[in-house]
Amino acid sequence: MTIRRFRDSDAETVSALIVRTLLVSNTNDYPAEMMEALAKTQTPEHVRQRASWTHFYVAEEAGSILGCGAIGPYWDREDESSLFTIFVSPAHQGRGIGRAIVETLEKDEFALRARRIEIPASATGLPFYQKMGYVFKNGCDSMDEEHLYRLEKYRIPENQQQLLGLLLNRHSYRGAYRPDQVPRVHLTAIMEAGLSAPSGCNKQTVSLIAVDDPALLRAIKAVIDPPVAETAPAMICVLSQRIPACHDRCFATQDYAAAIENMLLAITALGYQSCWYEGHITDTDRIGDRIACLLGVPDTYSLVCILPVGIAASDPSAPKKKAFSERAWFNGFPKGGIPR
Ligand SMILES: Cc1cc2nc3c(=O)[nH]c(=O)nc-3n(C[C@H](O)[C@H](O)[C@H](O)COP(=O)(O)O)c2cc1C
Repeated sequence: MTIRRFRDSDAETVSALIVRTLLVSNTNDYPAEMMEALAKTQTPEHVRQRASWTHFYVAEEAGSILGCGAIGPYWDREDESSLFTIFVSPAHQGRGIGRAIVETLEKDEFALRARRIEIPASATGLPFYQKMGYVFKNGCDSMDEEHLYRLEKYRIPENQQQLLGLLLNRHSYRGAYRPDQVPRVHLTAIMEAGLSAPSGCNKQTVSLIAVDDPALLRAIKAVIDPPVAETAPAMICVLSQRIPACHDRCFATQDYAAAIENMLLAITALGYQSCWYEGHITDTDRIGDRIACLLGVPDTYSLVCILPVGIAASDPSAPKKKAFSERAWFNGFPKGGIPR
């Protein structure tokens, strides 16, 4: 069985398939007269009209059309779509054709751009759509005036998934870097991402110095013992000022943590790797202070972290993280203790 886009010459066959299904399958759940009246509206012209503004598909096997389904915008919305006209010939139901049609529709561009997909579902189709993950719209489990249930599924549109994927795919990289220079436009974009992070009372306590001068990089790396980021072609040094925010509180630590995470994400987005080196340079041997000295940083600032930037020479590996259910919950702490 293949699923392909509807052609104009399919209209008669699709119309006959819809009529047959309404009269054979849907009469199990609706009065026969109601389905007969509905069947009369499902003309080839009606099918063509629907296919003119939706992406209409048919399931075909050995030259016969066994099912159909369409997806289109929901009331002209760019971020909401609706499924329509999903029918599987009564003789071929239960073979997974409906599932294959819905899965195809959910991969269509109208689905990929949508954050919500709606289905006006017949009582006949209701259990199937529920199995496909659709739930009653706004929790309303009664039929509308067209004798259909309104079902919906929320999803994350593709462009937003890409952004979330970036967050999930950031890992600390401690391996070697390729010697390729990092262009200034990229270093600037990374620093802009850092400076755009939130800061307590907007005190903007974070400042940044990007280092791409080979001689200066060598001098900095020479004071890092034991060595890290030895082959990185650039690094960003994070400076923090302990400026009081409000009520005698200082959020400098939170501020630079937010800035660093923004930069790590920007670094990943631009195809580079990095690692948050803070513990290593701020413990008793005060490596950070010595780097600050090399950079001419006034002593009202602390150099709290270095972020190497470069193209990884080997694949970054993901550390093991605890399960979602061990660390994140809805509406309160788990009553019986943390599920393991
Ligand atoms: C405050 C802070 C200090 C860190 N200092 C170091 C460090 O000195 N050396 C190092 O190799 N990694 C350091 N890291 C990176 C962590 O080890 C790393 O984020 C953690 O192992 C989780 O791995 P992931 O970043 O790949 O998710 C630091 C991270 C944070 C948040």
